[in-house]
Amino acid sequence: MALYSEKVMDHFRNPRNVGVIEDADGVGEVGNAKCGDIMKIYLKIEKDVISDVKFETFGCGSAIASSSMATELIKGKPLSEALELTNKAVAEALDGLPAYKMHCSVLAEEAIKRAILDYYQKHDLPYNEAVFADVLHEEE
Ligand code: FES
Repeated sequence: MALYSEKVMDHFRNPRNVGVIEDADGVGEVGNAKCGDIMKIYLKIEKDVISDVKFETFGCGSAIASSSMATELIKGKPLSEALELTNKAVAEALDGLPAYKMHCSVLAEEAIKRAILDYYQKHDLPYNEAVFADVLHEEE
């Protein structure tokens, strides 16, 4: 059996939504201290809906495929739905990742959360701290 699914290979070879949004409404950057990989997500938000999303990932193939799939999953979606996206859902949408590569999909979940938190903070909007507990905790 191949180590990586066709979908992982497709999103790795032809990643969707690569790039930068210069006037992004929210930006989230996360890294994994162990592997050193970094992921940055840019969001354009209109009326609580993600109208555009781009990413830059300096990382492994699974991280690139996870970023690509995650951006596809949240594009055009309300923020509330994007906040519910788990790394498991990203991995499932890719038809699975090897167990030791699951942490790559965690970067996608966290980068999206951080970007949305950045949007709320920059615009002085109220937010539920419990939803951002993981990423807020890391900032301490
Ligand atoms: Fe670090 Fe994949 S090995 S994100």
